This record gives sequence, C-alpha cells and structure tokens, in this order.
Amino acid sequence: MRPNSNSMGLHERALKVMPGPQSNLRIPLGVRPTFIKKGSGAHFWDVDENQYIDFMLGAGPGVFGQSNKDYIQALKDQLDTLYYCISGASQTPMEVELAEKIVEHVPCAEKVRFCLSGTEAVQLAIRLARAYTKRHYFIRFEGHYHGWLDNVLGGTTNDDLTGKPFATESDQDPMTTEGKDPFALQQSFKLPWNDIEILEHTLERYGQEVGMVLMEPINCNGGCCPPRPGYLQRVRELCTRHNIILCFDEVITGFRVALNGAQGQLGVTPDLATFGKALAGGIPLGAVAGKADVMDLLLQRKVIGAGTFNGYPFGIAAGLISMKLLEKDEGAHYRTIEKAQGRMMSGLKEISKRRGIPALIQGPRGVFFYQFIDKEIAYSIRDLKTADVLKQNAFRSLLADEGILIMWGGRWYISAALTGADIDRALEAADKVLGKL
Ligand SMILES: Cc1ncc(COP(=O)(O)O)c(C=O)c1O
Repeated sequence: MRPNSNSMGLHERALKVMPGPQSNLRIPLGVRPTFIKKGSGAHFWDVDENQYIDFMLGAGPGVFGQSNKDYIQALKDQLDTLYYCISGASQTPMEVELAEKIVEHVPCAEKVRFCLSGTEAVQLAIRLARAYTKRHYFIRFEGHYHGWLDNVLGGTTNDDLTGKPFATESDQDPMTTEGKDPFALQQSFKLPWNDIEILEHTLERYGQEVGMVLMEPINCNGGCCPPRPGYLQRVRELCTRHNIILCFDEVITGFRVALNGAQGQLGVTPDLATFGKALAGGIPLGAVAGKADVMDLLLQRKVIGAGTFNGYPFGIAAGLISMKLLEKDEGAHYRTIEKAQGRMMSGLKEISKRRGIPALIQGPRGVFFYQFIDKEIAYSIRDLKTADVLKQNAFRSLLADEGILIMWGGRWYISAALTGADIDRALEAADKVLGKL
C-alpha cells in the first residue's frame, strides 16, 4: 500500500471548507483518509493509486459493482433526452414503466410512489400509516435503522414493560445525536426484535394506538439477522388482527436479495414497503410501494408526499436500467452473486476454523456479516452483545491496509462484479490479517 499523501492533502483541504471529509454518516475515528478516484468492476483506486477490492458497494446501492458497462452505456444513451426531461416536465413514461415493474415483482406493491432516498421513503410510509389508521404511534425495533431523521434515529430500548415502551436517550447509543427534537422518541415504541411475546404483549395493551409496525424483514443493520422461523408470519397476523399497517423497510434487501425482495423470499407480504439503495443501482432513488387503498391516500390528496425532484428522470431511468439488468437471463445476476458469496462465506469460515477463531458468519444473498463471537446464528443484536467489537475494528482496518474494503461493523456487500481472482485475493488477505489478530 502506497503512502496516502494525496488523500491526506485532500483531507486537509476538505476540513477547511467542509464539516468532515465527506457528507455521509459520522466517520468512525481512526479511519485512514482515503479519497477515491475511479472504480471499475469490483475494484476502485484512490488518489494515491492504491487499488482496493470493494465489499462496501457505497453502503449497499452498488448491485453491479463499479462502472458496470451495460448500466453506464444505457444511461449515456439517454443522457440528452434525460437532460431535456430534467429541464422540462418530470412526468415521464419511464416512471410509469418502472412502477409497473415494481408492481410486477414485489408482492405487496399494488401502487408505487417515488422519492429520493430511503430516509424519505420511511417518512412517507409513516405518514401514510398514520393517515390510514388515524393512530399516532408506530413500533420499531432494536438494531434496525430507518434513516437519519429524529423520529427513527437511535434511542435505547426500555426493558421495563410496565408503561408505554418508549426508547430513552443514552450516551452509549452509537446513534445518539445532539440537536434532536426532545419529543421524537415519544412517537414510537422501540422493542427487541424477533421476540413475538413482547410484540404481542405491547399490542394487547396499546394496539389501538399503534398505526404501523416498521422493521427490516432481515435485520441487515443489526448483524444480518434472519427472522426466527414463523416470526414474520406471526407479526403479519398480529398486524392484521389489530388493524395495524405492517411496513417492511427493504432499503437494503430490496432488489439486492432478489427482485421480489426479502418479502418475496420469506413469503410474508407487508402492507407497505420502502426501497432505496439498490433500487437504481447506485443513483439516488427511493420508493414506497404498497396496498392500493393505503397508497391512494396520495391520489385523494389526503396525504402529501412532495419533493421537487421526486420521480426525476435521471433516477427513474437508472431504476429502469437496473431493473432490466437484474431481470436479464432469469436473474443470472443473482446467481453470480450467490456463487461469489458462497465462496467468500465458506472461505472465511474455513480460515476462522483453521485458526481457532470463533466467528459468526450469516446473511442473505447480497450481503453478509462476519463477527468475532462464538455463535452459529444470531437472531438479534442482543445475541451479539459479547462480540469482540474492537477486534472487528482492527480486522477492518488491517484489511483496508491489504486493499480490501468492508463496511464498518462487519458487513460485507457482494456484487456480481467479483471475479474468482478477487475472491482468492480477499480470502488470502483475510487469512493474513486473522493470523495477526
Ligand atoms: C434499512 C434502511 N432503511 C433506511 C435507510 C436510509 O436510507 P438513506 O440513507 O438512503 O436515506 C437505510 C440506510 O442505510 C437503511 O439501511
């Protein structure tokens, strides 16, 4: 790895004019400044000519890897028209076509509304659910992430179930932030996930006041935890019984695990679902999809879901191009990902075992979680309490020194661009690094 002198220079320049070296989430401390110059396939290069294998995929959107030729060419072919559309009306045939495709693939989708990000999609879903049910509270879960706005961000679960289970603020919470509405945590109940009894108990007591149950159907943000057998089915039944909107936040899983999302793979259909990230293969686009009678509150002008750029042609075109590539050869893309991921996961398992390192490796197609803990499976973030987080941080940082970039916290995103040679190299690096830890 070459010294990162060019990146350091940019870092210093950035701090003079920006409140951080980039505009994303809070950067973890101690991360070596790395500015990216270009990407291709599963690789990118920083401004010091270091090459990396990419298991971050921009925190999820990059289903095709970097600069996928078909994707870029298709966008280029439409650029002039798209520019005209941006400067003209933004009501386009492409938007209808993309909505039709989502309706075709996603089980809950009878109607679709586009926005710009996962965060916006979640907020629109909350508003729709409140308007539909005329109830104020929603339920969310420990270890799940739904964007950066006040009403869904952070809060520590309160295990005392004698009153309404609002989360509380805590300095220990990695999602704590100053400047938040002091009443934001009183909009929702926050419960442990994958625990049907707690949900049942809460709904028995407060079901009449709850408009929506919001969850990641596979908890990618909390360790790629799968739902326990029967859990989602039971949640579905409870929501139906209490007339509550069930919303799956598929911002990570949507179009990444499959064209029909986690809901299609797991066989449980929510009332609403939110999408973002992989929906347009790397260009900003969000969506809420769901039952017509809920979505039609927008048509009836009872609910506002505004946004200057909603349905902007460039994002919609990218969504359509993405969808067509994902549909190609009956989902060949997903088969390629599955193969690469299988090799990565079994390789890491073999190395960990050989080196006597207790490790948990789990995840759906397209993303997995590797963590230093002696467990076969984790069903919630609570199961990961004794994980060696410091070791995970060291692992990530040493891997980066070897040119392998993974997400903070132990998440690995898999694109179809990974070659056999990339996987060999990544496993070799992981073996070397695990030998040092
Ligand atoms: C499950 C989930 N929902 C919502 C969001 C927010 O999406 P965005 O960052 O596009 O606003 C994220 C982002 O990581 C997410 O993982």
